[in-house]
Amino acid sequence: MTAEPAAAGTGAAASGGLLTEIDHVAIAVHDLEAAIAWYGAAFGATVAHRERVESDGVEEALLQVADSFVQLLTPTRGDSPVARYLAARGEGLHHVGYRVADCAAALRAVLDAGGRMIDAAPRPGSRGTTVAFVHPKGAFGTLIELVQE
Ligand code: CO
Repeated sequence: MTAEPAAAGTGAAASGGLLTEIDHVAIAVHDLEAAIAWYGAAFGATVAHRERVESDGVEEALLQVADSFVQLLTPTRGDSPVARYLAARGEGLHHVGYRVADCAAALRAVLDAGGRMIDAAPRPGSRGTTVAFVHPKGAFGTLIELVQE
């Protein structure tokens, strides 16, 4: 019996299932202005959106890359999760945001697959999105944000 090679990454055969796009890659930094300036100098990237999310204790700058974003994140107070992350691990990759059509459905799918949620239910994110965070323990070490536009 002959088998056709899988058409990975091409056409309709390639599917992320519930994941429709990479929404953003989030990078924790100490100095947001310095990071924005560096992305501008190195890549010509510009800020498409900037927002303080007081509930999360962060200020973020979104640099648009095609239909996705690089999200530069800095804490606005010392007790925010991002401040604790920076203190413990330093600057660097903080989380990956996956775009989903239905955040609640994706949250349930994570739990059904044995994953752990940080957020028990979807909640408001930046840019008017609805989000929920998946715990890195149980997700192969990556903090995942489910993002519904
Ligand atoms: Co995010």
